[in-house]
Amino acid sequence: MVLGRVLGEDPLLCLGIESTAHTIGVGIAASDGRILANENETYKPSRGGIHPREAAQHHASVAHIVLRRALNSAGISPREIDAVAFSVGPGLGPCLRTGATLARALALKFEKDLIPVNHGVAHIEIGRHVTGFKDPVVLYVAGGNTLVTTHHEGRFRILGETLDIAAGNCLDVFGIKAGIGPMPAPEDYARRGVQLHHIPLRVKGMDVSFSGVLTASERLLHEGKRLEDVALSVTEAVYSMLTEVLERAVALTEKREILLVGGLAKSRRLQQMVREMAALQSAEFRPIPDEYLGDNGAMIAWTGIQMLRYGLTVRVEESFVKPKLRLDESEVPWID
Ligand code: FE2
Repeated sequence: MVLGRVLGEDPLLCLGIESTAHTIGVGIAASDGRILANENETYKPSRGGIHPREAAQHHASVAHIVLRRALNSAGISPREIDAVAFSVGPGLGPCLRTGATLARALALKFEKDLIPVNHGVAHIEIGRHVTGFKDPVVLYVAGGNTLVTTHHEGRFRILGETLDIAAGNCLDVFGIKAGIGPMPAPEDYARRGVQLHHIPLRVKGMDVSFSGVLTASERLLHEGKRLEDVALSVTEAVYSMLTEVLERAVALTEKREILLVGGLAKSRRLQQMVREMAALQSAEFRPIPDEYLGDNGAMIAWTGIQMLRYGLTVRVEESFVKPKLRLDESEVPWID
């Protein structure tokens, strides 16, 4: 039945479930390129960082509501979908297992193919889809990930990455320690900053390190420097390092499309820096709409469509989640 539909009847439909960290999302995508639904709910801890088990409990308590909303906005019943995709990793174990359990239950009940999607690949694939880029150099920046990558011989290859904490984590922790909360609060404060303080930039080739930035920011706060100025100094340091390694990757690969993906890619200041760098490199940068930058169900559904075309499904008995899955461990055969 699936082959007949690939050959040109109705488009294939894939329902995708995202649950790697703070967001539970359900998206529905069609093989003709339409995103039919993108419904998401985010767990917000009352204070501090994300607690995996509490986030998983949140996801379990609202999953049925998010699923119903997605089906309603797409105007379809579960029987009309062709496959169920889910985030298989990387992510927080309890959160991943909650989404995977829902995906397995749907696949079994409605006898659908089950598709294990690499969360990082999905961030890039929805970005390629909405920008129309074919073969970009990608900076993937979020609370848990920071890497520069591009597609080569069937996979996304990692050209550079953080040697310690993720860029988003650095800014989140800074904001929490400063008492203003995680992103986007540090960037909001940075807009009112006027003085840049010295913060050491740690770039080694195309790798970056942010723990020293965090330590320097704590020292500045300790010294009683104005919060807005420290926020400006920290965000400028982090975004400068990211833009520098991305520029090196563009120069090395000689590719002419630049994609920013992941939650931190919502930063307008980072987008501005990358836009200026792209112009210097005669490359093109197209920002992605915010709704597809944070974790979302649509990116899993859309990547599921690509994987379904290549038969990259998994048996329910073998559909274990992989909290430490790396971007370059997953096949991506649909890009030339
Ligand atoms: Fe993500």
